Amino acid sequence: MPLFTIDETRCKRDGLCAADCPAGCIVFEKGGLPEPHEKKWAYCLDCGHCMAVCPADAIQLARFDRRSDPLDRTLDISFDRAEQFLKGRRSVRFFRDEPVDRETFDRLLAVTGYCPSGHNARPTRWVAALGRDKVAGIAGAVVAWMRAEAEAESDLARALHLPGIVRVWDAGMDLICHNAPALAVAVGPKSGITPREDGVIATAYLELAASAGGLGACWCGYLLPATSHDAGVRAYLGLDDGEAVYGALMLGRPARRYTALPPRPAPKVDWL
Ligand SMILES: Cc1cc2nc3c(=O)[nH]c(=O)nc-3n(C[C@H](O)[C@H](O)[C@H](O)COP(=O)(O)O)c2cc1C
Repeated sequence: MPLFTIDETRCKRDGLCAADCPAGCIVFEKGGLPEPHEKKWAYCLDCGHCMAVCPADAIQLARFDRRSDPLDRTLDISFDRAEQFLKGRRSVRFFRDEPVDRETFDRLLAVTGYCPSGHNARPTRWVAALGRDKVAGIAGAVVAWMRAEAEAESDLARALHLPGIVRVWDAGMDLICHNAPALAVAVGPKSGITPREDGVIATAYLELAASAGGLGACWCGYLLPATSHDAGVRAYLGLDDGEAVYGALMLGRPARRYTALPPRPAPKVDWL
């Protein structure tokens, strides 16, 4: 199968696809049509930059079964808006008693397909739960692990203050998933190019997408050690032996609105 096809009637012979390919898979000579590089075509990352940069929609990577989607630049946001949006995102731990609908959730998860990943490997898969009962079931599995650690008086129990969290759970308060109506867990292979970074980035993307989509989200930090240490939690989430959890978010309609930015110190930067 050829790496790509070119619609000769559309191609502007500008060489943009070749210039933008990060793996040098495309050869272009002035006035000619782009062609796959004899050897390097095999290094194609499937990143689709060639399709994304072509203003004439003339190139089609053969391994994709659909064409590129148009990008509506009239919807671009100003830096002022983006800055306010990014600074205004807060971890949301209080949720309205409203379900998150599947369509919204699917749309948010689809956004994560566009985040960066090492070699464009996109190794993250999501384990998702909709409904307070389902999320509470996962929190319950985490608490069972916490209880065992607390009873064993393990170093981890001390370091993560697990006995206190279990006591609070027994008193009816969920500090693991905060009674959220939805949960998304970023799962990836234990080995690979950059699976941990990819999972963390995908989770960060989802948190931002959720915020833009009117949902609040917060990292579900206790789920991460639970999935590294407990077979019960791993089985609950359906993880394979070769998989790890790199991120987890509780999500739902926020019960409160934040009206100010908390003070944050300027980042530490050492200029070289
Ligand atoms: C890896 C990670 C784990 C976290 N785990 C939890 C958690 O288990 N429970 C919680 O309430 N917040 C958790 N948070 C949220 C942080 O507490 C929060 O990001 C921080 O306090 C800053 O607040 P902001 O996100 O509203 O700016 C976690 C954040 C990260 C990045």
